Amino acid sequence: MNILIIGNGGREHAFAWKIKQSKQCDKLFVAPGNAGTGTVAENVAIAVDDFAKLGQFCLDNAIELVVVGPEVPLVKGIRDYFEGDAKLKTIALVGPGKTGAQLEGSKDFSKQFMVRNNVPTAKAKTFFPETVNESFTYIDSCTPPIVLKADGLAAGKGVIITDDKAEAKAVIKEMLVDKKFGDASAKVLIEEFLNGIEVSVFVLTDGKDYVVLPEAKDYKRIGDNDTGPNTGGMGAVSPVVFADSVFLKKVEDNVIKPTINGLAKEGIPYKGFIFIGLMNVGGEPYVIEYNARMGDPETQVVLPRIKTDFVSLLNAAATGALKNFSIETHPEYAVTLSMVSGGYPGDYEKGKPITGLERVTDAVAFHAGTKKNQNQIVTDGGRVISMMALGTDLATAREKAYRGASILAWDGLYFRKDIGLDLLALQTK
Ligand code: AMP
Ligand code: GLY
Repeated sequence: MNILIIGNGGREHAFAWKIKQSKQCDKLFVAPGNAGTGTVAENVAIAVDDFAKLGQFCLDNAIELVVVGPEVPLVKGIRDYFEGDAKLKTIALVGPGKTGAQLEGSKDFSKQFMVRNNVPTAKAKTFFPETVNESFTYIDSCTPPIVLKADGLAAGKGVIITDDKAEAKAVIKEMLVDKKFGDASAKVLIEEFLNGIEVSVFVLTDGKDYVVLPEAKDYKRIGDNDTGPNTGGMGAVSPVVFADSVFLKKVEDNVIKPTINGLAKEGIPYKGFIFIGLMNVGGEPYVIEYNARMGDPETQVVLPRIKTDFVSLLNAAATGALKNFSIETHPEYAVTLSMVSGGYPGDYEKGKPITGLERVTDAVAFHAGTKKNQNQIVTDGGRVISMMALGTDLATAREKAYRGASILAWDGLYFRKDIGLDLLALQTK
């Protein structure tokens, strides 16, 4: 079958790499892709939210399966666009419609959904520009840390956690009244702080049935030991030692089942991934957030651990045939390191030549932000390469990923040196 992947990051390179290994994949395209996806698939210069051009491309190239990587086209309604067109609606598509994508696109929607469906989550109250004064009174009554969340998509910058009530008030005013994130901060949630360790669980569902994919831990801060500003993710590890079978059973019973049943009960069709960000609070899972897609860089450690034919799995989800589908996983550990441009997550330069890619043999260099400039591969984003390695244990997978990373060079290259060290320490306790 001919397949189109939408997106251009490390997640989409990992999708392309995995999909290409399936015998079921004939022609593979990525729109718009990057220099890495260009080595396993054909890149197509169409933006992720140009639905008309994407649709026409699918018809012209007999695409039978579309896999949507990032949240923006989902929240903008790519599924609704395809389903609203007589020719496009027969194409299988992995990703929810506009309403389902609200699980990610609106934190107020997802919070109310969780409350209605008894999914454990932090208590929260939503405020509007008209109730900004009430929000100040509410902040006065809270015990810090105070968690503020802009309702809509804010490119990872919409969550602020502070011990300082005056700062909390200044931030909520900036969001609600000064419209810091435009419509995305027209509502703001003030949420109870959850104290625990984070882990993410990934579910692929057809809206009735589901499979649970391997879990992962992501490292969000730029600096070692979780210091400095938040990023899109500086590394990831799978499996996660503290997510044992007892914890994962609670996740399935208390979180996944009520989520899938809730979607069905509320008449929200959902064919796609649900990425569930969880806090393990004293052994109990609480949902921090839902995303309507896979994570980046989590995908780069989750997909290598899936043994089941990936195209069959995607197609089953997209066509409503996941019933009786079970998933087999590899027992190996996977570690990925985000290798970034100097200055990221702030300003950074692009166009720096990358050397060493051809010498990486014991790891996989997924491209996150690269492009081809004549015959050279150059940096083209904040996160540039996602270096992934598998190993029979965590220490081996780490060593291989770090050895792979040591081979690459570009002007300003930076990566964290401590990815997975906290999990290794937990293992040896
Ligand atoms: P989100 O964008 O909702 O994933 O939030 C970004 C990060 O903020 C999460 O990955 C957590 O580390 C942290 N966070 C969000 N909500 C809470 C909460 N209620 N308690 C503690 N930490 C939180
Ligand atoms: N790595 C976090 C995300 O993809 O949202």
